[in-house]
Amino acid sequence: MKAIVYQKYGSPDVLELKEVEKPVPKDDEVLVKVHAASINDWDWGLLQGTPFINRVENGFRKPRKYKILGCDIAGRIEAVGKNVKQFQPGDEVYGDLCMCGFGGFAEYVCARENVLALKPASMTFDEAAAIPQAAMLAVQGLRDIGQIQSGQKLLINGAGGGVGTFAVQLAKLEGVDDVTGVDSSGKLDMMRAMGFNHVIDYTKEDFTKNGLRYDLILDNKMSRSVFDYMRALSPNGVYVTTGGSMVRLLQALILGPLISMFSKKKIRLVILKPNKDLAYMNQLFETGKVKPVLDGPFKLSEAPEAMRYFGEGNHKGKVIITLEHNKET
Ligand SMILES: NC(=O)c1ccc[n+]([C@@H]2O[C@H](COP(=O)([O-])OP(=O)(O)OC[C@H]3O[C@@H](n4cnc5c(N)ncnc54)[C@H](OP(=O)(O)O)[C@@H]3O)[C@@H](O)[C@H]2O)c1
Repeated sequence: MKAIVYQKYGSPDVLELKEVEKPVPKDDEVLVKVHAASINDWDWGLLQGTPFINRVENGFRKPRKYKILGCDIAGRIEAVGKNVKQFQPGDEVYGDLCMCGFGGFAEYVCARENVLALKPASMTFDEAAAIPQAAMLAVQGLRDIGQIQSGQKLLINGAGGGVGTFAVQLAKLEGVDDVTGVDSSGKLDMMRAMGFNHVIDYTKEDFTKNGLRYDLILDNKMSRSVFDYMRALSPNGVYVTTGGSMVRLLQALILGPLISMFSKKKIRLVILKPNKDLAYMNQLFETGKVKPVLDGPFKLSEAPEAMRYFGEGNHKGKVIITLEHNKET
């Protein structure tokens, strides 16, 4: 089968389209013919071997554990291991493989059945591939960690990518009608079209210095210091971050409990629970309440270009890689 393989850390130039052995499912796994995949920040970090934690996970000098990146996939089950109960060949599924070996940038991948959900018939493979990681971070960040409430004032930082474009739709469903999105100028029109009430171009304005206060901040970038974020929170406000640099994450971990001791403001980190809320997303999708924002699609052979595009931050919503056989369905 064809796959995008990498043998050393580096820029997207180290990604190669290669012929590799088709994987064989273990007893508790299914073999999925991949129709579409999407790119996540995690793929980007593993490609480069930064931050260093990615090398602890995947090999210090070169990639050892995961040589094929790609965690969000959608496809059709081709074979099942003998202990698989939930699925059968022909089922259309999708999910995030970050806890079972990545490998999605390929024609086939094996996955444990418990990381997959059935794809609704009305959802395309491209749409399904866009959902798993970004939508889970948005749902868990806003609902489970942020405990979003109707009538709140919400700001999403890094709002034009995967998480932000799901989060604004989810926030509206929770009765939050005042949503501000912060991102670069090229994404602001798309963000307005997705339902953001206010948009801020971070290259022109620092939202932590404009005097406005928010009840809930969902941050996908950690582009400001914890103290800046605290300034932008209302007195009982909650700051939730999905991720950012290690230094900023450590700062939030250390200062969070201290800040909560001296004020009613809270700092919370999202620890992704992969695939936990896919059934909920299916429901929202099937009732027309949520729609992924797709960028691309790129062919599998164009994966290096797609990764470069993602890494440069030019994408809107989710960058999709579509396999050739997706056209046959
Ligand atoms: N907590 C967990 O367990 C977990 C698991 C997986 C991933 N994550 C994290 O979750 C986040 C995923 O976010 P995502 O998928 O939405 O990423 P994304 O698609 O890359 O979107 C991030 C957006 O932020 C914008 N941006 C860049 N610099 C900015 C700045 N200084 N201020 C405001 N916006 C800025 C980018 O656009 P421009 O570059 O054009 O500005 C981009 O549109 C990442 O931080 C990732 O590391 C967390």
